[in-house]
Amino acid sequence: MVFAHLGWVAEVCIVTTCAGKVYKGKLSDGQAVAVKHIVSDGHVETFVREVTSLSHVKHPNLVALTGCCKHEDEYFLVYELCENGNLSEWLYSKSKERTLSWLQRIEIAIDCARGLWFLHTYPGGCIVHRDIKPTNILLDSNFQAKLSDFGLSKVMNLGQSFVSSEVRGTFGYVDPEYQRNHHVNAKGDVYSFGIVLMQILSGQKVINMNHNTHMQLNKKVQQKKSAIHLMPIWISSIHKCK
Ligand SMILES: Nc1ncnc2c1ncn2[C@@H]1O[C@H](COP(=O)(O)OP(=O)(O)O)[C@@H](O)[C@H]1O
Ligand SMILES: [Mg+2]
Repeated sequence: MVFAHLGWVAEVCIVTTCAGKVYKGKLSDGQAVAVKHIVSDGHVETFVREVTSLSHVKHPNLVALTGCCKHEDEYFLVYELCENGNLSEWLYSKSKERTLSWLQRIEIAIDCARGLWFLHTYPGGCIVHRDIKPTNILLDSNFQAKLSDFGLSKVMNLGQSFVSSEVRGTFGYVDPEYQRNHHVNAKGDVYSFGIVLMQILSGQKVINMNHNTHMQLNKKVQQKKSAIHLMPIWISSIHKCK
């Protein structure tokens, strides 16, 4: 009803999250979009942060926010549609058709690094994302990666940090230094990106519930140095792909 009123045609609900729902839709001019529908209670902050951080930045490796609106107690964010969904769906899919080549993996990693670099060096203020993880990395029709979900983001001066009252982010991706001192700064995103790199490289989850020991990926790497051992194989595979 609201979608029609605003000139959007909502087609399919892609996902239901704790903040609301994400729909795939079309604008009246035919442009394919994703619409995040946030149902007020407790999640208005998400809306404000996404609009503050994303509305004035434009980069090929950041999802584009094309519009936003508030309708009574409901909030809507309209983004360009990333047809291939999120990176997690590709890293952990059981289907053979949903396998990323080494070349695609390294290109996705480079895209994410570019997006982060752009955010952290943005002249209007360093934008700290605070929730870098595979479900917040979207893939467009050409598998170009775009950072998304700025619901926890914070704009601050470069080199500055602020002390948050509580630790925010996703378990397994949160920088241990920030967990100890609560200082939010760009370094936390770099740590989370390192965890994502290990996932892209190993195809493993941050915590693998299938194993008897529910060990975190970062601890496994510290113990086995598996990422370092895998690196030459990875690099030679990439050369072979070219
Ligand atoms: N622009 C988009 N294109 C395609 N899928 C999207 C888009 N935005 C969000 N999604 C899908 O919805 C999921 C949740 O969106 P996200 O912005 O991360 O919301 P939340 O704050 O609830 O985590 C993403 O992991 C992705 O699967
Ligand atoms: Mg998310």
